[in-house]
Amino acid sequence: MHLVQKSATILSLCLFFQPSQGAEKGSPVTFSKDIAPIIFESCTTCHRPGQIGPFSLTDYKTVKRRAKQIVEVTEERIMPPWHADPGDVVFSNDRSLTPQQISLFADWVAAGSPEGDPSETPPLPEFHGDWQIGKPDQIATMVEPFTIPAEGRDIYRHFVIPLNLDQDTWVKGAEFLPGDPEVVHHILYFLDTTGKAREYDAEDTKPGFGMSKSNAGFRYIGGWDVGTQPSELPYGLRWLIPKGSDLVVQIHYHPSGKETTDQSSVGFHFSDEPTSRPWSIIQIPPRFGELQGIDIAAGDKEHIEKATFIIPEDCEAFAVNGHAHYLAKRMELTATFPDGSTRCLLRTTRWDFRWQEDYTFEEPVKLPAGTRLDVLISYDNSASNPNNPTIPPVGVRWGPSTTDEMGSITLAAMFDTQDQKMATHEALRIFLVNQLIDRLMEGKFGGRNKQMVQVRKLLQALDLNQDSQLSPSERIPAIDFIRNSDFMKRFGAIGFD
Ligand code: HEC
Repeated sequence: MHLVQKSATILSLCLFFQPSQGAEKGSPVTFSKDIAPIIFESCTTCHRPGQIGPFSLTDYKTVKRRAKQIVEVTEERIMPPWHADPGDVVFSNDRSLTPQQISLFADWVAAGSPEGDPSETPPLPEFHGDWQIGKPDQIATMVEPFTIPAEGRDIYRHFVIPLNLDQDTWVKGAEFLPGDPEVVHHILYFLDTTGKAREYDAEDTKPGFGMSKSNAGFRYIGGWDVGTQPSELPYGLRWLIPKGSDLVVQIHYHPSGKETTDQSSVGFHFSDEPTSRPWSIIQIPPRFGELQGIDIAAGDKEHIEKATFIIPEDCEAFAVNGHAHYLAKRMELTATFPDGSTRCLLRTTRWDFRWQEDYTFEEPVKLPAGTRLDVLISYDNSASNPNNPTIPPVGVRWGPSTTDEMGSITLAAMFDTQDQKMATHEALRIFLVNQLIDRLMEGKFGGRNKQMVQVRKLLQALDLNQDSQLSPSERIPAIDFIRNSDFMKRFGAIGFD
């Protein structure tokens, strides 16, 4: 999950009121007065050289050339990309245009796309080279480039980048800069203070190390997906990088049809102040749904996965992010508060794998202890789903490749005390253990190691009537046994330490 918060809302409000008033008075819509402010505010972050937009929208000529297409993509709400439906919460990083802004594009084209008075064109916003949130205090770049073949399976690889920090350092923001955005699909960040990552890396001559090595001993600090808007942490929240840590970046590559190399970078923004409050992530179901038992039949048009988690301690959520692969269509996260009232914290009916956003709440959402969180994710594995990567469709289960599926919704939340945070992690761990018990009872989780055999024997012994289910009271000894074994370590961290 990724980090958050940027507020351009006040600025965009000012911008759209001016031009719509002008248009109402009957003065012709012009580029310099009406269109440029919208484009520069809402499009140029991506549509300028070196960014992910496939062409630049930086001046009259480049915008006029695509005027008709801009009308289409804005009316269909394809651009700017924004996939949260309007609902119960306001997002501070909402990129979507207002209806007034959208109709201005059509009015402009109808008027013949005039430029107007060039002296009225506002200046381009100030960009910081390739970095969107400003020049970083430290840039950590992959030590060597890594080659991605033209075709073949997705590649997951860890790269070790020494940070050489001689003191513990608080970080207020990090921005990931893909070397080749065409092949980098998503990344996860870890910190290693044990030197293990360097040992793994040294085992062969290729850059980095593969997935056969566990990253469970490293400290998980977040990630980045295609389309994530980088931003600084809000409310004075910070992460700690212990001195001497190596950054371990796990990159998921998706071959693009032509051989290429990648040498990505991470830019860190440091802070002199420690974090204002403890904070972490609450992911439901945890581990991107690894133990949810996702198993989607070929051709199934509406396969629904649900998960429910009750928050054990008061906290305040400040951002939300959904994750799934190509087949997902619809996602929802609803909070039911102890007084029975409900609030939808994220709904998307237009899930798009290419745009995974950290949706930042304009105001933190208070989640008192006892608040129930219900997640729903719906998948379409039919041939009529244009995003289905496999035609004719095949059965799809949970897995790391883009053609497998996953599914979870993650809240970023802050706590008053470290104890509250740790109790929330513990409740999530118990949730995961419960899912593990369900999967083991169904015979859907493999493994032949000694511990696994012990766990399975215990479950069989507890299931007196042999119905492949454990009653809540039968579960208690099983949960204790699994939790206190080393077995859960293989799943790694459940939140930020
Ligand atoms: C967050 C980055 C981002 C922002 C902001 C953004 N775009 Fe795009 N745009 C892209 C990318 C990437 C593509 C390539 C197609 C894709 O991946 O969907 C694209 C494609 C397009 C296309 C071509 C669509 C097609 O079907 O080929 C148009 C036109 C366009 N953008 C216009 C705009 C306009 C107008 C705005 C602002 C109102 C805007 N974009 C804002 C990233 C962005």
